[in-house]
Amino acid sequence: METKAWAIAHPSLALIKYWGKQDTQLNLPATTSLAVSLNELSSKVEVCLSDRDRVILDGKEQAPERYSLFLDNIRSVLKTDHHYDIMALNDFPGSAGLASSSSGFAALTAACAALSGQEVLPPDLSSMARLGSASAARSIFGGFTLLPAGSSAARPLYDHHYWPELRVLICLVDEGPKMLSSRSAMERSRNTSPYYDAWIKDAQTVSDEAVRALEQKDLERLGSLMRLSYQRMFATMFSADPPIIYWKPGSLALIHLAQELRTQGIGIWETMDAGPQVKYFCLDQDTKRIKALIEARFPEMKVLVSRPGPGVSYGTGKLSL
Ligand code: DP6
Repeated sequence: METKAWAIAHPSLALIKYWGKQDTQLNLPATTSLAVSLNELSSKVEVCLSDRDRVILDGKEQAPERYSLFLDNIRSVLKTDHHYDIMALNDFPGSAGLASSSSGFAALTAACAALSGQEVLPPDLSSMARLGSASAARSIFGGFTLLPAGSSAARPLYDHHYWPELRVLICLVDEGPKMLSSRSAMERSRNTSPYYDAWIKDAQTVSDEAVRALEQKDLERLGSLMRLSYQRMFATMFSADPPIIYWKPGSLALIHLAQELRTQGIGIWETMDAGPQVKYFCLDQDTKRIKALIEARFPEMKVLVSRPGPGVSYGTGKLSL
């Protein structure tokens, strides 16, 4: 029997956001999300059989409560009573609003499945990963994925070769850990924002239209829907009690920069998640120019450039971490 397995997954960046839960126990999303996997960012996980569960993430031992429900479900689906020693590494800042839980839980799910020696189909991996983080259900698949509201698993829409010209520029406004987890922030929005119901009511129309815009590779239409989605998601945070404000001055400056460049005819559309970082979507032909403009305006800012990436890869044995 194998005693070690590994997996690599890429973070799933939402163009259209999941924000709020239909069922907190089952971790079912209340809104449909549409996302792309980021090729240039990855989470690596190595799992060994052990007599107790232990998770070391980027060199730090993690609180077991965050993993216990997820690992218990893995054991129940895989019909095993194994415990796991887990070593996980991100090659990008974790807990900073860069979707590290999507790639981390997707990789962990796949590594545990590999270790079991059973063939687990991708929709089942996606459903298992969802219990760790709903966005992880999307990271199992590469390219463009949809996680419909209330669904237990994500659906692959197009693979990572679908739109080869698309680029995502990740502007690192602040690499420090976020002040509140996305899980707590979305619960606070749901429980206290008077705008939460309106967010849910409107979200499906936005995601349906975004799927059509993606089908036509219409960046302008898709970009304007992305903007509606993240701005309305943040409206539920700004209006929560107490309010949640992930934005930093640099975030706002980058939103304004995108607006300014659009008036000059450049196709650039921003989005943000539970953190201060701003992610720009644009086409390969404009990437150099946009990157140079960001560097000129914000000389200190680190910018990562990514293409759409593949789904999770995994196997047995050792991975050189
Ligand atoms: C803003 O998937 O991290 O990135 O399911 O509670 O673990 P949990 O939340 P998580 O939330 C992601 C929120 C988001 C939007 C998105 O990725 O769709």
